[in-house]
Amino acid sequence: MTRRTIVPNEQCPAAMIEPLLRHPSAQARGEGFFFREMVRYFHWPYQDMQQEGMDPGPLHSKLRSLTARLFKRFGEEGYGETIATRLTEEWIDGLEDVSTLNLVSSLRPIVVQVFFELLFHRRMTERELDLYVEVAGNFNDVLKSLGVTSKRPRRLMYEDLLAQVEQGDFDELFDDALSREENVDRIAQHVGTTLLYTGVLQTVEYATHTLTALAQHPVELERVRNSSDDGGEVLGRAMSEAMRLFPLFGRTNRVVTEAFEHGEADFGTGDVIYLEFGKLHRQHWPASDEFIPDRFDAGSSAYAGEELCSQHFIPFGAGPRACPAQELSTRISRGIMTVVLHRLNLLIPERFHHTRRIALGVPAVAVRRDASAEPDRAQTALSELNARCVVDDSRVLFPAPSLLPFLQAAVSTGMKLSRFHGSWLPCVRMSLSINYSRYLRKLRGMAGVGQQ
Ligand code: HEM
Repeated sequence: MTRRTIVPNEQCPAAMIEPLLRHPSAQARGEGFFFREMVRYFHWPYQDMQQEGMDPGPLHSKLRSLTARLFKRFGEEGYGETIATRLTEEWIDGLEDVSTLNLVSSLRPIVVQVFFELLFHRRMTERELDLYVEVAGNFNDVLKSLGVTSKRPRRLMYEDLLAQVEQGDFDELFDDALSREENVDRIAQHVGTTLLYTGVLQTVEYATHTLTALAQHPVELERVRNSSDDGGEVLGRAMSEAMRLFPLFGRTNRVVTEAFEHGEADFGTGDVIYLEFGKLHRQHWPASDEFIPDRFDAGSSAYAGEELCSQHFIPFGAGPRACPAQELSTRISRGIMTVVLHRLNLLIPERFHHTRRIALGVPAVAVRRDASAEPDRAQTALSELNARCVVDDSRVLFPAPSLLPFLQAAVSTGMKLSRFHGSWLPCVRMSLSINYSRYLRKLRGMAGVGQQ
């Protein structure tokens, strides 16, 4: 019988996780169970070309190599940091002295444009930008259980990517075993799902989590601002601490291809292992809920030590399936953040509760540091934002593996979300109930209720 195990646990503690992710019998994703079906659903129409969700084999190896060669080409452009810096400057130039905004939806167009320019070496037209941002927003909403896949814009973006790749200079990446048409299709699908879905979402959240944590910790914020010539070390530690507290992957899974023992744990063929990044990143860490970037500074008294910093902290995964974009996403996020921190003061409403999912984004008042706006205006904007802030959106939305049982309960009880207050509530509630019931029907059809 298939067992499902969540790690770290007593038999497979935090220190054993990294070697587990490297184990040759723990590299498969598996097919046909709820968790994986949901991931496939999120990535429509690229679900069959999705490197991250694929079992090891010839296609996975080809895509891994394609990713590596694409990223190598980006290297010549300073890994997107320069483009990110320029686009962030332009965004801030267009802001009022005091603006109320959502950090996630504000940074999304910047990151979409960075990836597009890295790929196609030109600026996006307005029409392209609107379409790609709409699709990236839909990917975000589906992943956060806020909506269902919008097929039309996704299909249009796919067609546009096919045309871009066809006209672009991608021939050196072609696979000799495929026709030109097949090569173009593979590259379009691969960049669609890897860069413009996953890559955009992750990079936006990476920057957003760090900026939000810094805005809520003024002492740390000032330290970053005063350390602009240290090669990014202080900012880098704040980014690590943000990833420790708010890991972008809540959970990943592995399916065991051959039984093996791992320390005190034993795994059987077909077992599903779920790794909870949040648990790994908090268990055993002193004052684990606090934002203390110096934990990662070997020269500081707050240093958490080599073992915690390496084995109990793997935001980008480990082993053969680790994230290939650690450096790329770090550079792009750093490019964005350096400009934002230099040019804006971000005020986060007091009632906003910062959690990993930031499902509704992060509401903020952005005040230009070079502007002479009266402080009253910023405070008024902040009070207004505070009044309509959804207090804790992590409770409105639910992590994927527990989604189906919740959906069943939630839909049948008419979405009794009475504990939430604020003026967004009617919209949130309405869209949740409409989308969730459609979503449920889709998932039921796809995954088969009761499989898990
Ligand atoms: C911004 C922060 C990011 C974080 C924290 C992150 C995290 C991760 C993690 C934890 C994994 C491993 C999952 C597992 O072990 O099962 C992974 C895999 C992957 N990531 Fe990222 N990621 C980030 C950004 C990106 C970006 C920007 C891209 C693409 C441009 C990307 C593409 C991938 C791919 C393709 C894989 C699958 C590797 C494979 O299985 O062969 N990631 N990522």
